[in-house]
Amino acid sequence: MLRAPVAPRPRKRSRPVEAGVPKCAEAKFEDVRIFLVERKMGSSRRSFLTQLARSKGFTVEDVLSDAVTHVVSEDIRASSLWTWLKSRAPPNLSTIRVLNIGWFTDSMREGRPVAVETRHLIQDVSPEVSPPTPVTTVSQYACQRRTTTENRNKVFTDAFEVLVEKYEFSDMEGPSLAFRRAASVLKSLPWEVRSLQATQHLPCLGEHTKAVMEDILQHGRSFEVERILSDEKYQTLKLLTSVFGVGPKTAEKWQRRGLRSLSDVLAEPGIQLNRMQQSGFLHYGDISRAVSRAEARALGSIIDEAAHAITPDAVLALTGGFRRGKEFGHDVDFIVTTPQLGKEGNLLSDVIDVLKRQGILLFCDHQASTFDMSKLPSHRFEAMDHFAKCFLILRLEGRHVDGGLHSDEGDSRGWRAVRVDLVSPPMDRYAFALLGWTGSRQFERDLRRFARLERGMLLDNHALFDKTKKEFLAATTERDIFDHLGLEYMEPWQRNA
Ligand code: CTP
Ligand code: MN
Ligand code: MN
Repeated sequence: MLRAPVAPRPRKRSRPVEAGVPKCAEAKFEDVRIFLVERKMGSSRRSFLTQLARSKGFTVEDVLSDAVTHVVSEDIRASSLWTWLKSRAPPNLSTIRVLNIGWFTDSMREGRPVAVETRHLIQDVSPEVSPPTPVTTVSQYACQRRTTTENRNKVFTDAFEVLVEKYEFSDMEGPSLAFRRAASVLKSLPWEVRSLQATQHLPCLGEHTKAVMEDILQHGRSFEVERILSDEKYQTLKLLTSVFGVGPKTAEKWQRRGLRSLSDVLAEPGIQLNRMQQSGFLHYGDISRAVSRAEARALGSIIDEAAHAITPDAVLALTGGFRRGKEFGHDVDFIVTTPQLGKEGNLLSDVIDVLKRQGILLFCDHQASTFDMSKLPSHRFEAMDHFAKCFLILRLEGRHVDGGLHSDEGDSRGWRAVRVDLVSPPMDRYAFALLGWTGSRQFERDLRRFARLERGMLLDNHALFDKTKKEFLAATTERDIFDHLGLEYMEPWQRNA
């Protein structure tokens, strides 16, 4: 009889193999500072592990200060550990990761700090501790939080999003990002926040965010948010930026000229709208209305057919919010490319021509590729990648959509205008482009931040570069990229951060 291979029995207590531990190596991982909890571990094992880690280039702190990023404990009773930690009270306790010894031994084996996985977390096993939060199970990075489209904390995140917008309009990036991060953390929770107490171990929630939450918990609404919503300047900027092609800068300029409504803008003689803004005003009603999944599917068939008419080996992939499982979006995003390297730019132009001949191209902003592998890696983040792409408005016929158009009652035109984005990366960049265009924006931001701060790597829509090894890391699938980053794989529907 065949026997299944037997897995090696886990050693009872994983004593590191090295016998004589060499002296300190140069500190290699500047973003990780470990503190080993002596309780249960004992002082001699603690100093042995400290030396071992230092010999491998890890920074181990002797005292629990606010420089510490990772607390490692062999005492896995969360409640008593937490009480002990709180009695030491470093000011940033909520952002410190509290981990079991497994994370430490895995990191020693790999010779680098491994990504924190669920099995490394200290689970709260004590029944008398009430909050549903195990100690520090929520990462500060969105790319380590599985976030579906189901949001149980919408009352809070909607309020935060108003604040994000307000600060964005005032060009205050810091506070705007802080509220984005806070909203993203709450979206990832599989439970509803019912008290501030329950949020005490969550990362990325500051004084200001908590004050807003407290109002909502007590009064059902935030007074600060209500004040913003009733502010005339906010309302005007919100309305003007809702036009395709109008950003915060232009909106601000128009607002300063005393323009308050879309018709004010159109009636103002001195204003020159660019082509994008003209189309934005022309199709305003249609493109400010959400696109349904059925409409996205119909557009997918149209683009697929156009691409395959040009070359039978065309590759089409849905990306953006619909790939993440959203039911509605503000546009539909696709990758259109071909396995023939270097031919993807022409494919995109040809697809645009086909759409034009079909009479469904209402607007097209086509940007040719400026991609050049020899200019990589880019050390600063650029808002746009360098692939050939186009921002379109297409005419979608109701008869092509299962169940009909998602449109106003009483709209008898039988068609609507829809925003569509197409991007054409060369096939060897496909995995990076797919990961980058699937989003969400917050998920992407944190993937890049995680890569840079935790791994010394640079990630963008084109490539992944290892700064230590000074080399690019190849990937043919999204999974390859997560693997290079030492991250647990996240399905697209878990990236709604
Ligand atoms: N993106 C990008 N470069 C751009 C435009 C978009 O990398 N110049 C990426 C963004 O990172 C984003 C994704 O494309 O994650 C989709 O962008 P967008 O359509 O704006 O957002 P969605 O998540 O699809 O949201 P919605 O459903 O509202 O369209
Ligand atoms: Mn989109
Ligand atoms: Mn888009």
